[in-house]
Amino acid sequence: MNVHRWPLTPRHSPADSATAFNAASAYDQAGDDYLTYADGDPVNLFGFEGRYAYSDRRVWAAIRRRLDALRNAGARSLRVVDAGCGPGTWLRRVVVHAHSMGFTRIVARGFDVAEAQIRRARVLARDAAGLPGVELRFEVSDLARPLPEADNSIDLALCLYCVLNHAPIADVRRVAGEFARVTRGYFIVTVRAVGSQPTIYVDSIDKARDLRQDHEHDLCEVDLHDGRHLSFASHLFTAVELRGIIGGAMEVDEVRGLDLFHNRFAPDARWNPATLVAPEQFFRELACLEETFATDPNFIDRATHLMAVAHPRSARRRAAMRD
Ligand SMILES: C[S@@+](CC[C@H](N)C(=O)[O-])C[C@H]1O[C@@H](n2cnc3c(N)ncnc32)[C@H](O)[C@@H]1O
Repeated sequence: MNVHRWPLTPRHSPADSATAFNAASAYDQAGDDYLTYADGDPVNLFGFEGRYAYSDRRVWAAIRRRLDALRNAGARSLRVVDAGCGPGTWLRRVVVHAHSMGFTRIVARGFDVAEAQIRRARVLARDAAGLPGVELRFEVSDLARPLPEADNSIDLALCLYCVLNHAPIADVRRVAGEFARVTRGYFIVTVRAVGSQPTIYVDSIDKARDLRQDHEHDLCEVDLHDGRHLSFASHLFTAVELRGIIGGAMEVDEVRGLDLFHNRFAPDARWNPATLVAPEQFFRELACLEETFATDPNFIDRATHLMAVAHPRSARRRAAMRD
């Protein structure tokens, strides 16, 4: 397969109204394959055996920590929004777990620009939506639109796995401002990093015959072996850039790299030979490497994904920043 990347430093993208349409079309076409590729077994919600198992566990730990903080502060009700929710796996995880933690009223909204993903999310969510006290809904909507949620109404806002990579970069600050406006609790976002291994986002890389990541125009062009051609917005972030954008709107708690080493070195049949067997100690050392270098400026941009966790600024800090 041919992989072309140029130039290595991302610059700007055309604020192209077709970008959301193209992303929607790519994820609509991805169909059921995307669900398995990205999130693993949809029935085994907490199995974390998907392709990004290591980073999924880290993201889930970050989410659980914030849910614990809310519950420990006495909250019994929870409002969640998941932007670019895809098949809705993350929102179902949050709802099912929050319910088991004793939140008695949970209002959760997932939205995505890809209709096929929302159709799938609605079908899969029937179990979680039936829990007492739970109001769970999925809608087709574009992140480019203002969020319908009221100011300071959301306890947990999620925007996970590449949603912001597909937004025109010129628009991402405004989008971050929207999350800041509606969030009273925590905002958690993950994006693909600039030095990550090549991706076609919607499926595994071996389905591609040719892949072009054009950093000049923030565009990903893919020729698949089955003859299809995909073309959609793809802006890859540096950690400094992500921190700058989110930090312009909220107080950033942490920015870390996810899957710096696992996805390259773990003996996993999906990317390394099935014959490669590693002792337990190997996994412990990999996890230790991840932990050691997750925030190291020399390594962070080589992570597969970057995760930022943020909370709203206090009124005093907002005023100080205005002065
Ligand atoms: C890699 S998927 C991640 C899905 C889900 N968050 C997850 O982690 O499983 C990226 C999602 O972003 C959605 N997306 C891209 N651009 C969007 C936009 N402008 N508004 C809403 N969703 C968008 C895509 O349709 C796709 O479902």
